[in-house]
Amino acid sequence: MKEPLNIDWSGLSFGYMTTDYNVRCSYKNGEWGEIETTSSELIPMHMAATCLHYGQEAFEGLKAFRGKDGKVRVFRMDENARRIRLSAEGIMMPPIPEEKFCEMVKLVVRLNERFIPPYGTGASLYIRPLQIGITAQVGVKPAKEYLFIIFVTPVGPYFKGGFATTPYVITRRYDRAAPLGTGTFKVGGNYAASLRASQEAHAAGYSAEFYLDAREKKYMDECGAANFFGIKNNTYVTPLSTSILPSITNKSLIQLAEDMGMTVERRHVPEEELATFEEAGACGTAAVISPIERIDDPENNRSYVISKDGKPGPVSTRLYNTLRGIQLGEIDDIHGWNTIVIE
Ligand code: PLP
Ligand code: COI
Repeated sequence: MKEPLNIDWSGLSFGYMTTDYNVRCSYKNGEWGEIETTSSELIPMHMAATCLHYGQEAFEGLKAFRGKDGKVRVFRMDENARRIRLSAEGIMMPPIPEEKFCEMVKLVVRLNERFIPPYGTGASLYIRPLQIGITAQVGVKPAKEYLFIIFVTPVGPYFKGGFATTPYVITRRYDRAAPLGTGTFKVGGNYAASLRASQEAHAAGYSAEFYLDAREKKYMDECGAANFFGIKNNTYVTPLSTSILPSITNKSLIQLAEDMGMTVERRHVPEEELATFEEAGACGTAAVISPIERIDDPENNRSYVISKDGKPGPVSTRLYNTLRGIQLGEIDDIHGWNTIVIE
């Protein structure tokens, strides 16, 4: 018998907590092995493993939700399966087969059922898949052996306050990814590249930093951990860029905006256009929709106030409620985004 949990579900932040099990799969001799289950949170690894030196690492982030009906739904896991395949291929790792990824997601959620936050707490079960190169070598070349792991941890909001407007800052001194670099892949190196800018943004009181396109420093790219969208004239506008992560949340919001009769534009978004948006937000699995109060560009002496009354705007609110409603099973899942993992 496990000890009963004593978790303040509604008070959770976006942090790590030990759960019961994680699931693993190894790649050796050119093939993926059987799925294994363990309670160990440690990875026995050689000090010369490629992931430690040359950043051969890719990861994902998705969530499971407990609905009012008691069922547990995982949101768009097939999209995450596809994206980690593209990330793996982007840094020369053999991709985990998409069916195996999905089987492992379902297994790890079921094994940790008692950690799935109850309905109504605003919390969810964050699912973190990762793949690392583990061959011991010092030559800069892809590993021959890999380890794929999925762990879970219950989480609350990524940005303090959840669905509330907060300030953001444009960073001109740092780039997260180059135009033809690894920005479209979810690989650890991109996040290492964002740490300095992100720490500086937090220290200055901002929720997060926005990067501009690295080539011209003219157009909005994305945050360190979320995409950007702006709303004006019944139009949903989001950057088109070769250095941003194709966000599954953004893709979903684009569909919901179209369902609501809005026009969608994916194109370059010049920084000055920020002055024209009625609403704007950062969106992602962890961030959900984080409405933007204002975006400062201190190095250019500019500030763009987006929310005049300090509150999330009506379109962002409707998008947020619809997305959450689908994830919690309260709104018809007409696009077939959820996988019911526990009935
Ligand atoms: N952009 C970056 C850099 C991210 O790390 C994330 C988080 O996964 C996102 C965007 C949002 O992507 P998604 O909506 O698929 O979680
Ligand atoms: C996510 O939104 O799932 C992310 O991975 C963002 C961040 C926690 C890295």
